[in-house]
Amino acid sequence: NNTDYHQFIDNDEGWVDRRIFWEEEIYEQELKQIFAKSWQFIAHDSMIPNANDFYTTYMGEDGVIGARQKDGNVRVFLNSCPHRGNKFCFADEGNARSFICNYHGWSFGIDGKLGALANEHVYDEGDIDKEKWSPKQARVETYKGLIFATFDQDAPSLDEWLGDFRWYLDMMFDNDGETEFIDGGIKSYVNANWKFGVENFVGDAYHALWNHDSGLKAMNKGEGFGPAVTENSYHASINGHGWEFGTDGYADVVIGGSEKWLNYVRDIIKPKIKEKYGELRSNIFGSLASVSLFPNISFLPGIQTFRVWLPRGPKKLELRVFTIVNKNMPEEIKQEINNACMMTFNPAGVLEMDDGENWEGNTQVNKGYLTRQEKLHYGCGITREIEHEELPGIIYKGQFNDANQRHFYTRWADLMNADSWNDVPTRYRPRHTKNN
Ligand code: FES
Ligand code: FE
Repeated sequence: NNTDYHQFIDNDEGWVDRRIFWEEEIYEQELKQIFAKSWQFIAHDSMIPNANDFYTTYMGEDGVIGARQKDGNVRVFLNSCPHRGNKFCFADEGNARSFICNYHGWSFGIDGKLGALANEHVYDEGDIDKEKWSPKQARVETYKGLIFATFDQDAPSLDEWLGDFRWYLDMMFDNDGETEFIDGGIKSYVNANWKFGVENFVGDAYHALWNHDSGLKAMNKGEGFGPAVTENSYHASINGHGWEFGTDGYADVVIGGSEKWLNYVRDIIKPKIKEKYGELRSNIFGSLASVSLFPNISFLPGIQTFRVWLPRGPKKLELRVFTIVNKNMPEEIKQEINNACMMTFNPAGVLEMDDGENWEGNTQVNKGYLTRQEKLHYGCGITREIEHEELPGIIYKGQFNDANQRHFYTRWADLMNADSWNDVPTRYRPRHTKNN
């Protein structure tokens, strides 16, 4: 493939080519260059706590099973029978010692290894090497309860992949001990390209002012978004991961949230963050913020929704949403948070519906051949890059800004082009490396 994917994104002029949200060939290249190489989110530890627990999901369009082993480790392997290819597990999740394929009855252990075959007598000695004919296994690594996998043996470690972005992630996933997902993740489908979901969460605070105005007024007794937070707010981008945030500390948890949760953030969480990570991060947590991890994970610190945008072709996505809480929170607070997530960021939630409809429109207009040849504008705040003493990453001033989106697409093009990991540039100045 000789295409230079940087032709689809211009970070200096600030535009993106619409064809990346529509064309099949580009999508095929994404499956190969983005999804088969990047670290993909599989599950949270709390979803499969016990031996033989499993959860099925996708890495790109490759169906996989994530399964807890007796030794506590998680294995991730393709959910496709090496005999004629059918899926051998059709459940979303469960607890099993083995899986048996429907078609001819081959069985697979919870470790993903091929075991007994039904009617094994039809095979002669030497016909099949079971070790060799077991489903492909992925590399698995975890970050603070989040289980990730990649099929790329050459990919950097998960720690390197997250890099300095852990400076931000720690305040979400390790502010007061372990986190957990509340039971009952929800799946839904949107007729939109997967990148529209990711880029919305990576830095599009702007849409909330307009698109969510009525929804917010309905929930907050007539109060809309309030005065836009432009002072003391930033975009931070590291290798395509992006966090946009204010440093005023409170706005986000007010949205659909409760006084109890707000107080809990102020009295319990912020002091812990301050003690562990310092003043700046304790001010960031709970502010109006939204985050995406490259390529397809997003969450909202404060609102506590966590979601994965699974691609289903270039024109459709499968959204899986969860509510994330701290394990040691009182049950009442967990419920307050979950209720707020249900009201806002679930398929029937007020804010999710606002967004999904727009993303479908953004995608489906590209059916028009001429429309598809036009560019999309990503130039907001293009001259606002700053140096910041404490914040790691590429930093732009102001929350209403396209900076994180531009850098998300730059990383996208970097990976789309790369023949090997040596070709993938680091586009920010790493500061919080292992050695300091
Ligand atoms: Fe699975 Fe034949 S396809 S046993
Ligand atoms: Fe939104």
